[in-house]
Amino acid sequence: MPRLYRRSRKTQQQESSDKLAFLLNGEWVELDPVSPTLTVLEFLRRDRRLCGTKEGCAEGDCGACTVTIGELHGSKIKYQAVNSCICFVGSLHGKHLITVEGIKQNGKLHPVQQCMISSHASQCGFCTPGFVMSLYTYCYQQEPGFSRQKINDLLAGNLCRCTGYRPIVTAAQKLLKRKNLSRYGYSDQAVTAQLKKNHFKKSHSFSVNDATYHSPVSSDELATLLQDHPKATLVAGATDVGLWVTKQQQKLDCIISIERIDALKTTRVGKDMVSFGAGVSLSEARQVLMSDYPDLGELIRRFGSEQIRNRATVVGNIANGSPIGDLAPALMVLDAKLTLRVGSYRRFVKLDDFFIDYGKQDIKPGEFIESIQIPRVFKDAMFSVYKLSKRFDQDISAVCGAFNLQVDDEGIIKDIRIAFGGMAGIPKRASNVEQALMDESWSLQTINKVMPLFEADFQPITDCRASAEYRILAARNLLKRFFLETQSESIETRLSGAVE
Ligand SMILES: Cc1cc2nc3c(=O)[nH]c(=O)nc-3n(C[C@H](O)[C@H](O)[C@H](O)COP(=O)(O)OP(=O)(O)OC[C@H]3O[C@@H](n4cnc5c(N)ncnc54)[C@H](O)[C@@H]3O)c2cc1C
Ligand code: FES
Ligand code: FES
Repeated sequence: MPRLYRRSRKTQQQESSDKLAFLLNGEWVELDPVSPTLTVLEFLRRDRRLCGTKEGCAEGDCGACTVTIGELHGSKIKYQAVNSCICFVGSLHGKHLITVEGIKQNGKLHPVQQCMISSHASQCGFCTPGFVMSLYTYCYQQEPGFSRQKINDLLAGNLCRCTGYRPIVTAAQKLLKRKNLSRYGYSDQAVTAQLKKNHFKKSHSFSVNDATYHSPVSSDELATLLQDHPKATLVAGATDVGLWVTKQQQKLDCIISIERIDALKTTRVGKDMVSFGAGVSLSEARQVLMSDYPDLGELIRRFGSEQIRNRATVVGNIANGSPIGDLAPALMVLDAKLTLRVGSYRRFVKLDDFFIDYGKQDIKPGEFIESIQIPRVFKDAMFSVYKLSKRFDQDISAVCGAFNLQVDDEGIIKDIRIAFGGMAGIPKRASNVEQALMDESWSLQTINKVMPLFEADFQPITDCRASAEYRILAARNLLKRFFLETQSESIETRLSGAVE
């Protein structure tokens, strides 16, 4: 047996406690405790020998490991494509996992597979199961649609190195024109009934070799657990934390997952404010934000991939304190606030004040972010956000600039908020530039006057993504671009990512 697949005697000694239970390709599975950092991909390939799901990058980039996960939302089951390489098995409790082996029935290929074959959309075939699973998941969603742009967005998280995308896109177009595809054996009703079993309403935890995975079901339980284990690793979508395990080989002794806390998955849309619980994913948030802030919808469309957005949370993107996290600059200029909680005590922190220094955020041991509040459009405000990266899809920003402007009837700037990612050790406001702009006329002359002040606000670094000079120049030019866009809607300053 290859070394990779050999389990040590030690890991076989299971110590405690609750069983992990879920559906795998329609069949009920109950697992004795596993390592809390065992990924779904390892479990499938190593433990179940379901090797159709491939490992390419083990970091959420290539999509070869794509699987479909069904989860109850109230009484309905919702299926999403997910990267199994950075998803922990503990997160499957009470869900339905479908792999490429599970989509045919009675030996008959699924139409997705047939379309891939008839379009000659596979050569070496390594990427193919991932593409198949992305398309399989999508064709059962409520409003699949099949515009070329939607297909591009859908497949941006699947990398093919040898066939080329044209035949794959053709396969997708053929497929998505078909109506009423049967899910092949997985009746939503039957699956929902199985997943509604009572024990999924309870918190659960399991340990192996002193490493523990906790999965509370309420915010109160989470608060208590975090007070008891202030050094625990809190996990939401695990699109960052998963890589600590697969790439940095970190051993995490205590994981607390917010996966099963329904209260944290709540979105509240008020007249003036939208509030996202800590478990709300980027895909869910996009649906809400894009109507108030089309630019934010567009930014999220370029955030990772469909698979990443289905798992990654808005709050996780803030909590990680990344200086290149895409949401922080946009949400800072919108004056978002966080609700933090320790025990039963809650406090509110403006996003501007949350980022203290590189790797240092205003959050204490035992504390967690419960939700984020984002004001809805200010009257007459103009909001834009720009992500600059080497690739359009699936790339990390070199610079991300966000602007929120209010001018009066005379064209005088009454309020302006500007923030950047990629320009400092933390996402940061351009306070000197902002100050110089206040009460000035919103004109090219004013913009040119404040340009030198960018150097007072930012001293960016040179790294593999961009040089310091590029970053400063890009930041200045983004302000100019924002100005031009506010002058005329017809000025084409954007690459839309659409290919018709
Ligand atoms: C392939 C790939 C592409 C990506 N693309 C982008 C991109 O385009 N733009 C971008 O900005 N990022 C990107 N990321 C980074 C990542 O997806 C995001 O930062 C994501 O929002 C993290 O959310 P999560 O729920 O997965 O966080 P997790 O990985 O679960 O957690 C991240 C951190 O936040 C902490 N945390 C989570 N929830 C809470 C909470 N409620 N309270 C306190 N702390 C908490 C965790 O302890 C951990 O330190 C990408 C990642 C991958 C793997
Ligand atoms: S193996 Fe590449 S995304 Fe999972
Ligand atoms: S068919 Fe070989 S990588 Fe896609």
